[in-house]
Amino acid sequence: SRVAIIKVPFDLGAGTRGASLGPDCLLQEAGLTDKLNSLFVPYEIAGEVGVPAIAGTATEAFDPAQLPPNLKHIAEVYAMSDSLAEHVSAAAASGAFPLVLGGDHSIAIGTIAGLAEHYANMGVIWFDAHSDMNTEHTSPSGNIHGMSLGISLGRGYEPLTKLRGICPKIKPEHVAIIGARSLDPDEKQFIRSLGVACYTMHDIDRMGIAKVMDEVIRRMQRETDGVHISFDIDSVDPREAPGTGTPVKGGLSYREAHLAMELLYQSGIATSAELVEVNPSLDQGLKTATLAVELIGSLLGDQIL
Ligand code: ARG
Ligand code: MN
Ligand code: MN
Ligand code: MN
Repeated sequence: SRVAIIKVPFDLGAGTRGASLGPDCLLQEAGLTDKLNSLFVPYEIAGEVGVPAIAGTATEAFDPAQLPPNLKHIAEVYAMSDSLAEHVSAAAASGAFPLVLGGDHSIAIGTIAGLAEHYANMGVIWFDAHSDMNTEHTSPSGNIHGMSLGISLGRGYEPLTKLRGICPKIKPEHVAIIGARSLDPDEKQFIRSLGVACYTMHDIDRMGIAKVMDEVIRRMQRETDGVHISFDIDSVDPREAPGTGTPVKGGLSYREAHLAMELLYQSGIATSAELVEVNPSLDQGLKTATLAVELIGSLLGDQIL
């Protein structure tokens, strides 16, 4: 189906600025539009939600006198999420495949909120070095990009968990985290207590990424009515993906990441995707941005032979 690209040049959910340069870098410099054309994938730019687009609306959402602690830029994150949810929901309603280009990983709050209006049992495959399940009470940083999966599961600051009236947006048994290797103590406990499937790098080393993907895909086929791919580029090893704000050693190899995307394409289960945390100002040339474009290509049908 048609790909509806939504650009989200938003980086106030991260501790380091620069991920806001991601969407244009991917589309133009790193050649995403050329890649889509070469694959004969029909697409349109369906919207843009960034810091400029929400300027003014951000502060209206919150009384500046009563901003909650340890939620950096909460007013801006809230306004971005609400607006992004609307764009994503409209794209999904039109029958398109929403492809959201970040921006930092806080944007998943809005993406998943918009999708939740269309899927009662949506699966989420969360590729990440982290689990992004902190709350304002457990976060070591106050950066909301470290809270977006938890918020989507209904855990955290209520104005965000209740965004657009659906809470929780997704169920723990429909989530798979892939590539984890940097989890905060409370996140580990939350993952265990909910029984969220979390394929750490240890698991991937032992099982191989192909077996991991087969397991995840089969479960999603049985139990979900749609599958969102939330791909944090820091899931990939920093040798391949240096241009990101919170790199962690020991990540997915170049081929592991591609094989995961190729298997998802072959399975046909993906109904939407987002690519986040590419920070062009931290990149070595266009290395990370180019990898991101290639991975999107593999997810959308680019094949070796
Ligand atoms: N766990 C750390 C925190 O809460 C890092 C989160 C990094 N998240 C990301 N989307 N890159 O601050
Ligand atoms: Mn993340
Ligand atoms: Mn991450
Ligand atoms: Mn609560």
